[in-house]
Amino acid sequence: MERVRLALVGCGGMARTHVARFAKVRERMELVAAVDLVLERAQAVAEHFPGARAVRDYREVLDDVDAVLLVLPHHLHHPIGLACLEAGKHVLLEKPMANSERQCLELIDAQRRSGKVLMIAYCMRYHPIVARLKELIDSQAFGEVFQVSIWTEQLTQYPADHWAADHRTLGGGQLFSHGCHYIDLLLWYLGRPLRGVHLGTKLGTPWMDWEGTSNVCIEFEGGKLGYHFGTWGARGTRLGYSIHAHCTEGMLEAQISYGDIMREQEGKSRLLFLRSGKEELLLESEAGKHTENEMAHFLDCIHYGKQPLTDGPGSLQGLRVIWRLYEAEHQGIVADLRGLGLDQFEP
Ligand SMILES: NC(=O)c1ccc[n+]([C@@H]2O[C@H](COP(=O)([O-])OP(=O)(O)OC[C@H]3O[C@@H](n4cnc5c(N)ncnc54)[C@H](O)[C@@H]3O)[C@@H](O)[C@H]2O)c1
Repeated sequence: MERVRLALVGCGGMARTHVARFAKVRERMELVAAVDLVLERAQAVAEHFPGARAVRDYREVLDDVDAVLLVLPHHLHHPIGLACLEAGKHVLLEKPMANSERQCLELIDAQRRSGKVLMIAYCMRYHPIVARLKELIDSQAFGEVFQVSIWTEQLTQYPADHWAADHRTLGGGQLFSHGCHYIDLLLWYLGRPLRGVHLGTKLGTPWMDWEGTSNVCIEFEGGKLGYHFGTWGARGTRLGYSIHAHCTEGMLEAQISYGDIMREQEGKSRLLFLRSGKEELLLESEAGKHTENEMAHFLDCIHYGKQPLTDGPGSLQGLRVIWRLYEAEHQGIVADLRGLGLDQFEP
């Protein structure tokens, strides 16, 4: 099988995470170009891949590649994603898909017209612990799930002139930028949402122009509840990144990454089952973002014509939930979250 020729567009912070895992998929994929407006960043990536070019403008390399990985500021996801699909390239696009509903619909439409793969890089879905939790919830291995709670506590601070410090380029606040991973997971675990609330605050994160801390509560079909607490203002943490799934026979606890107090356990993610007087380790995996699994799935979609697990329509549904939650928060009401999937809602 031919190796997929890939260009990495955007060689900043998250790109380094992707690049660190490329070696694990090198039999199926070859980095032929690294692109960044800041040429030194592109060069710093390209020098690790023999023969790879470093350029400032992605249009210079489109003729030489089959696929692009876009790791760009959010306001560039739409124009550059669209241009790459229209040029007939497969696109792995960092989350969130785009900053407005119209932009997302245009990307979905461009994907359909091109017949190429458009996959959104919701890397948490490809984390072994997160994926195993989904299997256990779906198979009702520990009874019926009735509450999933997700915590993400971190200190994330951008300089005032950074694109992520401005909601016009970020697309919103912490919930939109980072919480989109966890709204996506709640929908994946719990199904169709009915209603919900978001309360956010800028307190504690004065470098943000929208909220830096979010609390989300959502009711799903069948009476199941989802909760998400995310902050970019944590000066200390115990839960770090954690998921608790309460089921009728016990609780499943995913410790994705650990907080300050549990430092001795760093380096591993764990899935545990807890029931009064009993704690069982179900799965342990390397901590960190498993972007090699995400890339392997993208390559499978290209090679075998599979539909991405994290495709455009599913990703748009999660963003619609976030936009409805923001609107309802401004109006001081509970958001109606029914009918937000592309199968349920025609634009
Ligand atoms: N999946 C995750 O866990 C995760 C974590 C962090 C960031 N991200 C996502 O990755 C993306 C990038 O975030 P980041 O933190 O790496 O940002 P960053 O600012 O560190 O990197 C963005 C890079 O894009 C470059 N760039 C800007 N305009 C460009 C253009 N027109 N052409 C080429 N390069 C251009 C910048 O020079 C910069 O190097 C965002 O979508 C973000 O949400 C995902």
